Amino acid sequence: MKVLGILGSPRVNGNSDILLDQALAGARDAGAEVEKVVLSKKKIAGCLDCGKCNEKGICVHKDDMAEIQQKILEADAVIHSGPLYFWAMTSQLKAYLDRWCAFFDENWEWQKSYAPKMKGKKIGLITVCGDPNPSTSDPIVHSFKSTCEFTGLNLYGVVKASASKKGEIEGNEKAKKEAYQIGKKAVIKQG
Ligand SMILES: Cc1cc2nc3c(=O)[nH]c(=O)nc-3n(C[C@H](O)[C@H](O)[C@H](O)COP(=O)(O)O)c2cc1C
Repeated sequence: MKVLGILGSPRVNGNSDILLDQALAGARDAGAEVEKVVLSKKKIAGCLDCGKCNEKGICVHKDDMAEIQQKILEADAVIHSGPLYFWAMTSQLKAYLDRWCAFFDENWEWQKSYAPKMKGKKIGLITVCGDPNPSTSDPIVHSFKSTCEFTGLNLYGVVKASASKKGEIEGNEKAKKEAYQIGKKAVIKQG
């Protein structure tokens, strides 16, 4: 069992990172092998919509997304964590998500070679916003929910939290517990 964590915040050791670490600790405690990718440390160009990936599922960009794509394929669950930037996900997370294009053919069906590993894959999402109402991050949730519904992924858990200053979430035991649980839930089979 492998759980991949994707950090969408450029603030390493920031709020989303702290919650992602909690989630990965939950997954590890439930017996999974875990790995974290910090998107801001990777080179990920924007999707060109050139359609070349429709043929074999390989993007024309020669950057770090190829290696991340492989990790996604191998993972049983992928947990994303990122802050709200101007009522949307960060540019790092959006560039990454757009590059999922390479998993599909021209009809937005999974590439045949990827389908067995991708269909129904567990996707988790953690959001943090400065606004005291955690639901201010709902545009990010909407994006992931719609993407998962459209493609047949399993958005099995969402955690929304509020924090502003770097590391402030450390004092939010409820959010940390919820994040830990989303990690555990990635591993434990649901009925
Ligand atoms: C460029 C930028 C835009 C932001 N936009 C919003 C916003 O629209 N709504 C909000 O509630 N917080 C906003 N924030 C605050 C962050 O979501 C908040 O500080 C969060 O805790 C950062 O998480 P991190 O430590 O994981 O990076 C913004 C922060 C930055 C840097």
